[in-house]
Amino acid sequence: MVTTGKIELHRGLSGVYLDRTESCFIDGAEGKLLYRGYNIHDLAEKSTFEEVMHLLLYKKLPNRKELAAFDAQLKADRAVPAEVLDIVDKVKKAHPMDVLRTAVSALAAFDPETTDNSIEATIRKGLRLTSQAPTIVAAHDRIRKGLKPIPPSRTLNHAGNFLHMLFGRNPTPEEAHIMDVDFILHAEHGANASAFAARVTASTVSDLHSAIVTGIGTLKGPAHGGAAEEVMKMAEEISTPEKAAEWARKRLDGGGRVMGFGHRVYKAEDPRAQHLRDRSKVLGEQKGEPQWFQLLANLQEVMKPYQRRGIFVNVDFYAGSVYYLMGVPEDIFVSIFALGRIPGWTLNVVEQFERNMLIRPLMEYTGPMDVPYVPLAQRP
Ligand code: ACO
Repeated sequence: MVTTGKIELHRGLSGVYLDRTESCFIDGAEGKLLYRGYNIHDLAEKSTFEEVMHLLLYKKLPNRKELAAFDAQLKADRAVPAEVLDIVDKVKKAHPMDVLRTAVSALAAFDPETTDNSIEATIRKGLRLTSQAPTIVAAHDRIRKGLKPIPPSRTLNHAGNFLHMLFGRNPTPEEAHIMDVDFILHAEHGANASAFAARVTASTVSDLHSAIVTGIGTLKGPAHGGAAEEVMKMAEEISTPEKAAEWARKRLDGGGRVMGFGHRVYKAEDPRAQHLRDRSKVLGEQKGEPQWFQLLANLQEVMKPYQRRGIFVNVDFYAGSVYYLMGVPEDIFVSIFALGRIPGWTLNVVEQFERNMLIRPLMEYTGPMDVPYVPLAQRP
């Protein structure tokens, strides 16, 4: 915080509480994350993305009957109108996040409840978008490769269906499980930049599709969701585990950052990271490519002195290697984050609508005052 005269400046809104929430608790010093009171470790190890979506949006873990009905609705909502797939085809050369942002925006023209801002309709739209978004990401990847999109499955779970549409084959149970855990880990994270941006949009009483488009645009940046892609690019540039330490030292000495480290809130290890670290190691061994995990582990070793300054690995550090080892194209990594986060953005919009107040901060003006206007003809 900077105080100039009577003004308290909180650049980047760092340390500012925007509102109260019942959905996500983060203890940055401890490295603790709870969704509606449930520890992320329990959810990642014992739950499913479908259960977590229900928990976040309907405020409770579902019983069997509730889960069956919820799951049936999610499966029924997976298809995307042909017009939206045509738009995907027209913009297929763009980055997958640009395509997803464009397609979600286009879906607003086809959703029967786009302008209904009731809580019930907002939740229904959020779940519909959660179901439709994997269809868009997978269809785009196939269209740009000259392949026909695979229609969504009516039987596979959310994570398995995404991989099925992306790969054009049924995923192994292990692949589907890793994707499911990844979606759980990315589902919600308080007032992060993209959720905050979605809240700003909602606070003007705009609609859910607009708020999700805002969220996707904000998530794309390398300081937020784009880091997983950057981590894998960095790993490929380093190329072998032996070169990791020297590469990192050069980068840090030059004032650069090592991607996948640091977090605005966590000043301990991001509790989500360990679930992907374990999988990165096992997957690497299974696929005969253990070098990526070793390279990342070596980077983590070089970064140890930074822990004194609260800079630890974040969720994106091992995520990139996990996706890479599963055969997911690098430019889709951040889209996967978006697929997991749609329930979280929806939840933030719901909470914003429940007790709405326009989000409108101030700026301290530091420019000139009362400058005399010179007509165009008299300007030098
Ligand atoms: N590598 C090296 N140094 C770092 C790193 C890093 N990854 N992250 C922060 N630092 C240093 C900065 O250079 C700065 O040093 P200085 O005080 O000497 O200038 C100090 O730590 C504070 O950095 P800020 O950017 O002010 O801290 P902030 O809390 O705003 O940063 C952020 C958070 C943007 C995530 C930052 O750590 C970063 O750029 N990390 C790399 C990108 C990344 O991994 N992003 C994913 C975030 S997690 C997510 O969105 C899921």
